[in-house]
Amino acid sequence: GFRVGAAAAGGGHHLEQDYPDPFTFDRVYRRALDVHFNSLTPENQLKWEFVHPERNRYEFRAADAIVRFAREHDQGVRGHTLLWHSQNPAWLTEGNFTADELRGILRDHIRTVVGRYKGKIYQWDVTNEIFDGSGNLRTSENIWLRTLGPGVIADAFRWAHQADPKAKLFLNDFGADGINAKSDAYLRLAQELRAAGVPVHGFAVQGHLSLPNAFPATMAANLKRFEDAGFETAVTEVDVRMPLPGGAAPTEEQLRTQADYFRQALDACLSVKRCKSFTVWGTIEKYSWVPIFFPDQGQATILWDDYRPKPAYHALQSAL
Ligand code: XIL
Repeated sequence: GFRVGAAAAGGGHHLEQDYPDPFTFDRVYRRALDVHFNSLTPENQLKWEFVHPERNRYEFRAADAIVRFAREHDQGVRGHTLLWHSQNPAWLTEGNFTADELRGILRDHIRTVVGRYKGKIYQWDVTNEIFDGSGNLRTSENIWLRTLGPGVIADAFRWAHQADPKAKLFLNDFGADGINAKSDAYLRLAQELRAAGVPVHGFAVQGHLSLPNAFPATMAANLKRFEDAGFETAVTEVDVRMPLPGGAAPTEEQLRTQADYFRQALDACLSVKRCKSFTVWGTIEKYSWVPIFFPDQGQATILWDDYRPKPAYHALQSAL
């Protein structure tokens, strides 16, 4: 019952380029997804800007293709994401909608998108990155929180649950891997929501890690406290980037440390009972978001560009 996943079919940061959908990926890529993973997360294709490009138009083709691929290969799918401050289409962010209109737009979106994949997506990241590093809601950045207030979080979970009662619904964030102000805020919020009868099932840590920063040593303890409070946990976007100034090749030591971080993250998940999925964010460097988002950093994934395994791949395999 344990799922090891990958973000599939990248491409989101290449908006200006011809966006590669899963139909056009080459055989080697598809085979790698099939051979190494039993869960896939559409890396961008379920985000608002992709799936809901105009107010009255949804674009499901790319997400459908990933979901179909997953079903053909006996893989689960994680849904990502429904309420986020980022990767929203301009029609939404610049639309000057009233609160009532926005509420209706979000409700219809969640019903439509979650409903389409009812029974086919086992976990949804209902909210993504709603807290900042100090544990405050990102009210000014997030159109939903700003316009509708924090109550929209409960609404989003309720609407998602109505659309697919079997899907497990998660709060998801980065920088909340260990015990800190952000994960503290999530524990409080999760407990408040549950006390109010809101269908929130789990807390997910993204696991975007980087060298030479230390591994978040309290990750296992963090997952454990959510589990002790009655929540599932998940690790949803693991990658371990490293400084590679001027495109330098990684050193043996960097690769060893990276492997150790991947293994520790997986061990943290495996150390609790209700952490049932562990997903890495990408496969090969060529399709990784890291070199585009973090200049002079890279090689954050577990496979080389020719799909040979890095030490991190072997570390994960031996921990399973
Ligand atoms: C990233 C994708 O990997 C990129 O392709 C895209 O351009 C930007 O988003 N946290 C998340 C993910 O929740 O959705 C982000 O994915 C990485 C950080």
